[in-house]
Amino acid sequence: MSSTRQKLIEMLSQHEDTYISGQMLSDELDISRSAIWKHMNELKKDGYEIEGKANRGYRIISYPNKLSENTISWGLETEWLGKKIVHKTSVPTTQRIAHELALDGAEHGTIIIADEQTKGKGRVDKTFYSKKDEGIWMSIILRPTIPPYLAPQLTLLTATVLANVMDNYVHVQPQIKWPNDVLIEGKKVSGILTEMQAEQDRVLYVIVGIGINVNQQINDFPEAIKERVTSLRMETNKQWKLVPIIQKLLQTFEKKYNQFMHQGFDSVKTAWESYGFRLNERLEIQTGKEHWEGLFLGIAEDGALLAQRQNGEIEKIYSGEISWF
Ligand code: BTN
Repeated sequence: MSSTRQKLIEMLSQHEDTYISGQMLSDELDISRSAIWKHMNELKKDGYEIEGKANRGYRIISYPNKLSENTISWGLETEWLGKKIVHKTSVPTTQRIAHELALDGAEHGTIIIADEQTKGKGRVDKTFYSKKDEGIWMSIILRPTIPPYLAPQLTLLTATVLANVMDNYVHVQPQIKWPNDVLIEGKKVSGILTEMQAEQDRVLYVIVGIGINVNQQINDFPEAIKERVTSLRMETNKQWKLVPIIQKLLQTFEKKYNQFMHQGFDSVKTAWESYGFRLNERLEIQTGKEHWEGLFLGIAEDGALLAQRQNGEIEKIYSGEISWF
């Protein structure tokens, strides 16, 4: 997008409640009033709804239902999260871009979001299927002042944020499957991939990758995973606009993150356990060569799953060792 146009949208969005005169726009952007008028017509063609009134000027009424830096920023009520947004139409994975930007000094709270990922990454080298325009594929760069061993708490925090937004905004009943999938009726609707760069005792940055299936229909998923996945649309019989969900998510994330930084992990643990999938149920655990059945008690501060053996002993379990009945 031309920088003039970008600037024009920014100015309109900063004055969303008032009219901004053609003269003022023309002075600020250093182009003629008829050039402004032409740009406005172009914006309208792209789906921006702009009201023009003689003697008063222009006012933006609504943005197109497309992802862009502007459509996400407009109406986003956050202090630091998403103040810098990088939007791409198609990328292999937003995680990679996030790493590059973070290494380049990108600020805490920068988000990278794409319409489509051609090589979406899941945990343990799995593929995460990210169809164009049908879901939210986003990475958040964080620079938390916590020691590296506490970083898994951020994954658990993110899962509670997703569950919270789905519960309160989409009105479905999400469950969090340890360590970090969000399910509805036992099917995966969202996944989280947290990656970190750290020194011995200091986190340099954390990338929280969030994928949410929003508007897919069952045939949009590859055959091999159809049985195990769902989308918000499939659960609610309704198509969802992506931008308001993204905004709710960022707003909730910022609030919970601030709370976590000031007050610690307790509230995250409570929220996580309130959405915990199969909490207090039996699970099968493979530790090394040993296979045993335990009771799922909850989560520990380091993100581990707590399971109780039949003899009453409580053990911490780390990833890849659980099978769910
Ligand atoms: C999982 O389910 O194992 C984790 C999935 C994480 C997917 C998100 S989508 C945005 C970000 N970019 C990626 O390539 N992966 C994460």
